[in-house]
Amino acid sequence: MAAIVSTHQLTKNYNGICRVNDVNMTVYEGDIYGFLGPNGAGKSTTLKMLLGLAKPTRGDVVIFGKNFIKNRQSILSNTGSLIESPSYYGHLTGLENMCIMQRLCNAPEKNIKKALHIVRLENQIKKQVKHYSLGMKQRLGIAMALINFPKLLILDEPTNGLDPNGIREIRELIKSLPQKYGITVLISTHLLSEIEQMATSVGIINDGNLLFQGSMDSLQGKSKSFVTIKSLNNQLAEKVLVSNNHTSFNIQNDCLVFSNTNDTDIADINTLLVNAGVQVIRIEEHRKSLEDIFLELTGRERSL
Ligand SMILES: Nc1ncnc2c1ncn2[C@@H]1O[C@H](COP(=O)(O)OP(=O)(O)O)[C@@H](O)[C@H]1O
Ligand SMILES: [Mg+2]
Repeated sequence: MAAIVSTHQLTKNYNGICRVNDVNMTVYEGDIYGFLGPNGAGKSTTLKMLLGLAKPTRGDVVIFGKNFIKNRQSILSNTGSLIESPSYYGHLTGLENMCIMQRLCNAPEKNIKKALHIVRLENQIKKQVKHYSLGMKQRLGIAMALINFPKLLILDEPTNGLDPNGIREIRELIKSLPQKYGITVLISTHLLSEIEQMATSVGIINDGNLLFQGSMDSLQGKSKSFVTIKSLNNQLAEKVLVSNNHTSFNIQNDCLVFSNTNDTDIADINTLLVNAGVQVIRIEEHRKSLEDIFLELTGRERSL
């Protein structure tokens, strides 16, 4: 698959402090790439460098296979973006704002209606934008970014500050873009749940370092399951298992923990234990959640 965005050792220092460190990011065509990281991780700085809004200290940006610096104009004319909050004229209506954008971008007039339809604002176009809710303003911002039906759409935390309903609406509209309109989406967020529900690929950034990059499936593949068995006599259980050549377990918190076992193994182990007179009181399957993986990668504690 073709890479739509690739960066090579992209680095940004602010006041001598490295905020984005040697980032090699690859976004493939048709992806919804979730760029995930806690506040201050370097997401906005990275996205600004992709759009020429911040100058890299070091490294290259290649978009649509072309070097950004040499092809800035043609790259930007095929890229829509919403970085931080949308810019609009509050005293003008949604439609008037869209018309301004359409003329600025030299986009076909019919795109106005099409973009407003995607973000489901077609019934609100005659209202002044200052009377829009936050969610409606965000959706207008996305419609403005879509005015040219770009090949690439870059959205920086587009659901920030929205209520769950607003978040869901934006998620649904983003999910429709690659298939329906052939738009590749790069979206940043600090919310794992958002990524989980819409991204096909994920990049996890923390303190300026890209810690993980890959498909959503490969991230989920890291969440291996394990089984714990609780019995009334762990010492005896251990003896029975070892003498029957079961060694892939350890004992933690009064439980036998098995990490590389399938259902048949567990059934056999249970039979062995019961036949040897060990009273088994619980067999449980556990799975590391994506949140556990994210916290492990970013070295943060789970907050309860
Ligand atoms: N223009 C700037 N000048 C100085 N420091 C900045 C500037 N922009 C961002 N930073 C710093 O860089 C770090 C990363 O910021 P940012 O990219 O906005 O993070 P994120 O978008 O992931 O929350 C933060 O510590 C922030 O304070
Ligand atoms: Mg940011």
